[in-house]
Amino acid sequence: MRIKELLSSRDFGADVEAKGWVRTKRGNKNIAFIALNDGSIIHNIQVVIEMEKFDEELVKKVTTGSCIAVTGKLVESPGKEQHVEIHAGSLKLYGTADPETYPLQKKGHTLEFLREIAHLRPRTNTFGAVLRIRHAMSFAIHKYFNDHGFYYLHTPIITGSDAEGAGEMFRVTTLDAKNPPLLEDGTIDYSEDFFGRQTNLTVSGQLEGELGAMALSNIYTFGPTFRAENSNTPRHLAEFWMIEPEMAFYEINDNMNLAEDFLKYLIRYALDNCRDDLVFLSEMYDKELIDRLNFIIDNHFERITYTRGIEILEQSGEKFEFSVSWGVDLQTEHERYLVEKHFKKPVIVTDYPKAIKAFYMKQNDDGKTVRGMDVLFPKIGEIIGGSQREEDLEKLNNRIKELKLPEKELWWYIDTRRFGSAPHSGFGLGFERLLLFVTGMGNIRDVIPFPRFPKNADF
Ligand code: 4AD
Ligand code: MG
Repeated sequence: MRIKELLSSRDFGADVEAKGWVRTKRGNKNIAFIALNDGSIIHNIQVVIEMEKFDEELVKKVTTGSCIAVTGKLVESPGKEQHVEIHAGSLKLYGTADPETYPLQKKGHTLEFLREIAHLRPRTNTFGAVLRIRHAMSFAIHKYFNDHGFYYLHTPIITGSDAEGAGEMFRVTTLDAKNPPLLEDGTIDYSEDFFGRQTNLTVSGQLEGELGAMALSNIYTFGPTFRAENSNTPRHLAEFWMIEPEMAFYEINDNMNLAEDFLKYLIRYALDNCRDDLVFLSEMYDKELIDRLNFIIDNHFERITYTRGIEILEQSGEKFEFSVSWGVDLQTEHERYLVEKHFKKPVIVTDYPKAIKAFYMKQNDDGKTVRGMDVLFPKIGEIIGGSQREEDLEKLNNRIKELKLPEKELWWYIDTRRFGSAPHSGFGLGFERLLLFVTGMGNIRDVIPFPRFPKNADF
């Protein structure tokens, strides 16, 4: 049995076995108390060792961080903190942890320090809680879509396209960096490369997702995405996970309704299924966490156009680091002002200037704006980015030409507008942005097991 089950068992007197890592050991020469954790739950089980029954040398080696198996009787605990404890009959030491060098000795390490020992930090309460919530959210995402008739589509990780047109991609190549084959003009000859062309890690599964939606109607992707943007912020990773649903016959309002329902479902799921971990994180880092989660469920998301958003920001009298005028991209400070100060609820902004959005967004009749939508959350800013897609072949082609995108390489994408085109929409939810919000953690590097960011790819 895992410690989670043992802790909820009331089968007093039963013979049980527990295996896990020692969080603390205390006691005296007659008795020792071991707090044991196996990651199944935030709480430890207490193991009571009567010293006279055990080899003293063995018990001495059981120190913080060591790994043990214990068998014994499950008994009702006299302690206030737990209902049950194990009175040990036998003890097996799997692995010692030298007290001189094991880095997780005392509580209260900084999150920065824990990032440097990311190989061990899953053994802390904080990361145990974060990783369990991360798991629960992944499961809930698949459950939501499965229950709503969406198919999970696996889009490629190595691609030849730049879906967002932002050009911030990691190259994938097997060419010799020192001595690559060259063309006559001195540029690299990618026809000699592994795929016979230039390739990169995907920045988004959307373009392939659209191909799926044009056959299966409703699909979603959920996979790793990669961006070589040099942003050292608490909200950016170079490798992050994204959930991207894509729906045929959805217009922008349907898209917004889905995004709102989906986010509320996930947050409700966390409240219903991750209580212990949320309570721990809220006590530890962020007293308002649970209120903030409930607040999302209880409120309608405000829906405004970009143009209205700019008006509000211009009239706010607020001093922003980045100044505001029609045409600029919204910065996190602007997004947070709209959400936290002005509307005091989540906001969906639509109809952005076409110049600041990707080529595939559906063009509005005004010739200036596109049918994009960003969902903005308290503390986070943009949590979702999406749009209705341009389904008109001619308009799409014109936009591709205007932006000088590699038209020839996008032939397969353009084909969907040539054969049985349909109105369709979709969005991308940044999984770690969601987790930042749900866990209340302050830095995105602390909601993924092994973060990738500029100058760091350890572990
Ligand atoms: O707004 P983005 O760039 O949109 C897309 O990639 C679209 N293709 C999505 C779609 O319509 N299918 O990214 C979507 C979301 C953002 O709202 C944000 O939550 C997250 O992905 N995101 C990042 N998360 C962590 N680190 C980064 N560097 C991120 N860049 C975007
Ligand atoms: Mg975006």
